[in-house]
Amino acid sequence: MKIGIIADLHIDRIRTEYTIEDFRQVLSREILGRNIDLLLIAGDISNDYRTTSDFIQSLMESTDIDIRFVPGNHDYWQPEGISSTEVYRFYKEHPQCLIESPLILDDDWAIVGHSGWYDYSYADPRFTLEKLASGKFYGGTWQDKVRIDWPVDDPELSRTFAESVQKDLETVKDRNVILMTHVVTHHRFTVPTPHRLFDFYNAFIGTSDFDTFYKDYPIRYSIMGHVHFRHQFEEDGIRYICPCLGYQREWRTDDLTAEVRNTFRVVEI
Ligand SMILES: [Fe+2]
Repeated sequence: MKIGIIADLHIDRIRTEYTIEDFRQVLSREILGRNIDLLLIAGDISNDYRTTSDFIQSLMESTDIDIRFVPGNHDYWQPEGISSTEVYRFYKEHPQCLIESPLILDDDWAIVGHSGWYDYSYADPRFTLEKLASGKFYGGTWQDKVRIDWPVDDPELSRTFAESVQKDLETVKDRNVILMTHVVTHHRFTVPTPHRLFDFYNAFIGTSDFDTFYKDYPIRYSIMGHVHFRHQFEEDGIRYICPCLGYQREWRTDDLTAEVRNTFRVVEI
């Protein structure tokens, strides 16, 4: 089975010359050209849950393959008149979303996924909890603080989401696991420090609440997005993959097809 993986498509980014339809066509060609059986998207498809959902639907129709995703922080950004809790519920009930719905592939393999959330543990320890919770640094504000309104604070949300993942890991326990999150779960994918901004903003990149899972469960692949890197490495028999397309201004070329090809990873099981 060939599983395609990608993250951080940001299809509705205003400052891009490409339309959502261009993203659909380019991704469809990549999926069909590589004979992919299943596509996993590790979050940040768009800034609106309706756009994200419509895109998944249209990509499934044009490729005729199964697609599973986890929402990224951007996918939770709230349009007027809807709460973050309602957006979360929308995703939880979405048939292609992995939250509380692990995908059992066969007797040997399963896919477990959740957005995960950042718990501030990757920030430099010189910052107080209060300072981190403000999201404000050097005149900038971490935009989730403006666009999302969770009923609990970030560290508690991280713990709650990790507990949900642990339940799913228990459900699929004897199988090899492909774990997919949006936020980073390994320190090697944080922005290297010291860094003028990311000493602070690494607070919002990842979580340590998944650390024990890698020892306690047979996770073979760990896929994540959010940090807009395109890296992978292996540690203790686990392959960690961060396949982020990212913003157009971060690309090496201006060619969407080339960038998707460069980002797209395939896991064969
Ligand atoms: Fe992103």
